Amino acid sequence: MSNDLITDPSKIERIKTYVKGLDENIQGGIPKGHVTLVHGSAGTMKSSLCFSILYNEAILNKKNSLYLSLEQSFESIVQNMVNMGFDLSKINMININDLSKFSAGLKKVSKIGGNFILVDIGAIRGQVKDVKTSENRSWLNVVKNIVLRTKKEANIELFTFDSLQALYTLSTFNNPRMELFNFFEFLKTQSITGYMISEEMGNGNNSMFDNEGFLSDAIIDLRLTPFRRNIVREIKVDKMRATKCNNDVFSLEFKNGAFYALYGGQNPLL
Ligand SMILES: Nc1ncnc2c1ncn2[C@@H]1O[C@H](COP(=O)(O)OP(=O)(O)O)[C@@H](O)[C@H]1O
Ligand SMILES: [Mg+2]
Repeated sequence: MSNDLITDPSKIERIKTYVKGLDENIQGGIPKGHVTLVHGSAGTMKSSLCFSILYNEAILNKKNSLYLSLEQSFESIVQNMVNMGFDLSKINMININDLSKFSAGLKKVSKIGGNFILVDIGAIRGQVKDVKTSENRSWLNVVKNIVLRTKKEANIELFTFDSLQALYTLSTFNNPRMELFNFFEFLKTQSITGYMISEEMGNGNNSMFDNEGFLSDAIIDLRLTPFRRNIVREIKVDKMRATKCNNDVFSLEFKNGAFYALYGGQNPLL
């Protein structure tokens, strides 16, 4: 590893968030290879933001990605993204919602890159009969195997996991800190940049978040904040290793097919 040590900060490769106004405030993007928590309550556009990063990387840099959804179905994700104006014909989208069709799905991988592999675990949950709910690591193993296969067949570089909380409801972890640590380390050994979606639970039970936060390289926090007789979407960077970042709270807007971070540190003039 020592041969790979970066000594010049400008040599740190970064992947944009594609949030205009935010990338400029985090030295251009999130360092490649980071595991980032994308944290927020329901409806804060966590899934949309991650989708947007993978989508843009597929189009602009021909990067291959895996989007693993534990809850939301393929149809629902696609419907949301099409409504937001993403043109899915610009990427090679491969949907896998049946484990027996995994190999067939991976045959559709384009050699020129830009592959967006969407695995909908919700649909395949029923097919994984050998996973005992009492076996803590089993679901994590299913996930790791999907990552390994897509890495091997499609050389995925980006990975969204949607969501950690859905995983926790499927499996109980004896030693969450260790198991999550191993999972994040596993992604690093595969040279994968990860976006872990972390749902803020309405019941105030966010005990797992402490572990997630400690172990991740970066935390992006998304919020819905009441402001006058309205709600503003907000985005802020809580943590980002190897990055000089502006931790202001920005308003988050999605318009004309792109995300914008606006009014850093100031209230919007609603
Ligand atoms: N074109 C759009 N412009 C702005 N917001 C949108 C658009 N399409 C959907 N949304 C909003 O995005 C939200 C869902 O985003 P999603 O990424 O699924 O959130 P999360 O994953 O955080 O629950 C919905 O509340 C919806 O109103
Ligand atoms: Mg979501």
